[in-house]
Parts: sequence; structure tokens; C-alpha cells
Amino acid sequence: MSLVRRKFDTLVIGAGGAGLRAALQLSQDEAMVAVVSKVFPTRSHTVAAQGGVNASLGNVTEDNWHWHMFDTVKGSDYLGDQDAIEYMCRAAPRIVYELEHMGVPFSRKDDGRIYQRPFGGQSQNFGGAQATRTCAAADRTGHAILHALYQQNIAARTHFFDEYFAIELLRDDEGYILGALIMDIATGEPMVIEAKTTLLATGGAAQIFRTSTNAMINTGDGMGMALRAGIPMQDMEFFQFHPTGMAGKGMLITEGARGEGGYLINGEGERFMERYAPKARDLASRDVVSRAIAVEIREGRGCGPNKDHILLKVDHLGREVVHKRLPGICDMTQTFLNIDPADKPIPVFPTAHYTMGGIPTNRHGQVVIPVSSGPEEEVPGLYAAGECACVSVHGANRLGGNSLLDILVFGRASANHIKQYLTENRHHRELQESSIDVAMQRLQRWQQKGEGESVAGLRNELKRVMEQHCGVFRTEEVLQEGLDKVLAIEARLPDARLTDHSQAFNTARIEALELENLMDVAIATVCSALARQESRGAHSRMDYPERNDVNWLKHTLFYKDGRQLDFKPVHTKPMSVETFPPKERVY
Ligand code: FUM
Repeated sequence: MSLVRRKFDTLVIGAGGAGLRAALQLSQDEAMVAVVSKVFPTRSHTVAAQGGVNASLGNVTEDNWHWHMFDTVKGSDYLGDQDAIEYMCRAAPRIVYELEHMGVPFSRKDDGRIYQRPFGGQSQNFGGAQATRTCAAADRTGHAILHALYQQNIAARTHFFDEYFAIELLRDDEGYILGALIMDIATGEPMVIEAKTTLLATGGAAQIFRTSTNAMINTGDGMGMALRAGIPMQDMEFFQFHPTGMAGKGMLITEGARGEGGYLINGEGERFMERYAPKARDLASRDVVSRAIAVEIREGRGCGPNKDHILLKVDHLGREVVHKRLPGICDMTQTFLNIDPADKPIPVFPTAHYTMGGIPTNRHGQVVIPVSSGPEEEVPGLYAAGECACVSVHGANRLGGNSLLDILVFGRASANHIKQYLTENRHHRELQESSIDVAMQRLQRWQQKGEGESVAGLRNELKRVMEQHCGVFRTEEVLQEGLDKVLAIEARLPDARLTDHSQAFNTARIEALELENLMDVAIATVCSALARQESRGAHSRMDYPERNDVNWLKHTLFYKDGRQLDFKPVHTKPMSVETFPPKERVY
């Protein structure tokens, strides 16, 4: 079969904020850039980011990047790499002003400056009073940013392959990544994109869980491709459960609702966060608030006939504030619950939200892996940025508002390094046919409908198992049972049949390919969670309730081959300031 082949300087897989920020930087520099996206770019999941992007602009309360850095290190439960965190927090104001100049319609203060709201885990003066650091475009900040970036990319002549699915990375015998095999979803036609550099920007993988705030597209495709290419996943045990997913449905109710002054109450009408975080209360870090909600419900203080959720109140803020600052939330609660939050509280529950772990990178976005002969080596030609990557700036728990920042800062940083790489590597390396053949095998496995269990059935089973066995609270017994069940589902996958909607054959095939990715990510998550015998950030082991810095202040690495685990040190040394040493984490 003769394959269509195209050549570019850079292949960007994924058209969310990280991919588009990187592509823009490169296209403006006249590199030939292809962006491959399985959905139309402005439908990428960045569009769903609500509350805002953190930057120490100081427009509302006094602020500086060093306080932002302290909060991020503390929020990460000291597992974040302090050099990367310093880099991100220092870059934040400039990144936001760049967006402003690109035309992002930020909300404004009366004096015309960018509106900022308080978010969880933010403080002034290294743990003092609440800071106000999250720059917002009402509660549709991701939407505003993604559309501006897309428009800028069109102007810069980035080449888009819309509704193409990335199947597998292509690499040569020396380990260089030379592009990817992709497939046109509408026609099923495969295509080879040869590239001197490839950036994975495929987003997170919360679809491994049954209830999540994430779009259906967040199936960990880049992580799956990296795992199959022999690249380990870092810190996969750390999965963020957002405290306020819409109960029973999962959609995100922004932390901005609490930032604007909203608060949580239990079935007894009590503002229970005062007991768990006396100072920060409802604006404690997300892991703290999610655990508090889970405990309230477990101890019988939930709301509703089944006492299975708690309530988020914003009605006391007044109709004008609620409708002006949270218009998207009002639309959503009206549509799905027939509730106007200016009148009635919103039922909420902690919901899978964010993959803190991912493909290990340095702060230039280069994918780095340990080698036996030395500390770490770059995978030549391969970069990763955004939620699929682990830089690691979020460590064991990400702060709200730092994910939009991460994708923009490290999308841009990756592009800057790629520019340098392209100057030093001006010609395409030869792509061997054998590499394409290996990639094609993955596609060919899913050619036939055949007999067997449905892909959709297996996917639903996987998601249920993950929810029951790898949730907010974990124990060895529950995790081990979960791993056994996930592996049993994996063993049934080769005999699965494509879903029977023949009109949508390629859609069914995509679902199967996505399920393989979900499976790989789920296994990495449970194995890493089983390994880490301590509680840190979002990883809460009831059988090991304390943080253990002596044995566990280190990153986990999971390899698909043989389900091997390894560890690597945390970068505790920042770029220019003093280390923030681990301390008890109280809010
Ligand atoms: O709650 C939110 O608006 C989510 C923000 C984030 O995850 O950073």
C-alpha cells in the first residue's frame, strides 16, 4: 500500500493551549509546522478551562512571582521540581500580557486592568493572607485563550490537519523520533508525517475514570504513544479530583465560584471547611477540599435523599455578581439541573479532573529518560508540553489556575528549544520503512469488526473499576484488586469487536485505539499508586496516612514493558532563589 507522506519541520500533536502556543511561536519564526488534532482545534479541551490563569500581576492585591512560586511548591506537597516552578512563575506575567496583546478578552477591573480573582492555595508573603492571582475572562478563560491562539495560528500560516488521529510515533534505530503515523478520521486513510521534531501536546487522561470534568477526547493518546515507544510515565499516582464537579454528572463548576465568595455546606447546613482548613477554608488546596468532602459524605453528613453530595452556595453574592462573573456556570446549571445558582445552591462532588503525572520532560519541553550510564538523556527530536507532560511543576497536587499557565509557558518554552534544535539539525533524517510497518500494525489490528465483546463495554468497565479502586482514598488491598481487574480487562481487549454502528466505522476504530491508550494509562496509574507507600498531595493512602519525606520525596517512573517501576530525584534546587524545604502543609 502506498502511503501519503508529508514533510514538516515540526509536528505538533494536539491543538489545545500547549500545542497552539508552541505552533504559533514556530510558525511566526517561519518554521513549517503541522498541527494534527483529532477534533477541530477550537474544540480541544483547553476550551473548557473556566476560572483563569495564574500570574502575579498584583492588580487586586500586592503580589510577586516568588510568592506564587512558594504557593506552587507547597501546593505540590514539595514534589514539584523547584527549578521548573521558578521558571513558570517568573514567566507568568509576561505570558498573560502576550495573551492580552493577542486579543484575549480578559474581564476588566474598573480601572481597565485585567481582572483577577482569588483561587485555592494562593497566599501573600509566603503563606500569609489570601492572594488574588487568577486572571479571568469571566468563567470562560480557556475558551477565550484557545480562540485567540487559533486565530493567531491561522494568521501565521500554521498547517492544520483537523480531525486526524495520531496512531504511533515513528523512530529510527538510533532512537530519533521522526514524526508519526496519523489517520484521517473521516476516510480512514493513514498518512505519514515526517518531521525533524515532534511535540506531544495531547492533554490529560481523566477519561480513565467514569465521572470526570474532562471531554470525551481526553484519552491519554500521547501518553499511550510514549509508553509504547518505551518512554516511562512519571508520577502517575497523582490524579487530581476537583472538589466541585456537578454531582452525578461531572461537569466542572469552577473554583472561581468559591473565589468569588461561594462556600460549601454539608447536609447539616454547616460550613464544614472551617474544620479542615481553619485559615483558607473553602480556598484550601484542591486535594484538601476534595478529601474533606469525601469524609463528610462518608460520615453521613452529605446532602440530598441519598446524602451523596454536598452543596456549593453562591446565592448570597447577589444575582448581578453571579451572572456577571459566572455566566458559564449559570448556563450549565440551568441546562443540566434547572437551577439558577443566584437562587439555589449547586450539588457538587469531587470529580476526576487533572493528570499531574505524564511524559517526563525538562523545562525546555525535551522528553528525558534515565539511562544506566548517567542521570538522564533527551529522546532526540521528541518534546512534550501541557497536561500530557510532567515537567514537573505540579508535583503531587496542582493549584487551580496553574494548568493554563503550564500549557502556555511550556508550550512556548518547547518552541524556543525546538527552534534551536532545528538550527542544529537542518535536514530530515532518513525514515526507515520498518518503523512505518510497526506503526501500521497498530492500525491493522482494528480493521475488522469481527465477533467478541464490544469496545464500548470494555471501556465502561475500565472506567468503573478505576473509579472504585483508584479514587480519592486508597489502600493496598483496594488498589491491588483494582489492578487485577484492569489487567483482566486488558487481556480481553485483543478479542474485542468494534462497536456496531457501521455508518461510523472509523469512529468505532478510533474508540478502540483510544481504549488501548486509556488502558495503558490506567495501568500506569494503578501500578504507581500501589508502589507509593505514603500520603502526599492527591495520593491519599489510608494504610500509609503520613507523608514520608525520608523514603518518598522522589518521582515515580512507570515503564510499560514488564510494568517496571523506577524512581528519580526531585529537583529541590530552584534556578536563582533558595530552596523551599518540605514543611507540614496546613491551610
Ligand atoms: O476550577 C476551575 O476553574 C479549574 C481551573 C483549573 O483546573 O486550573
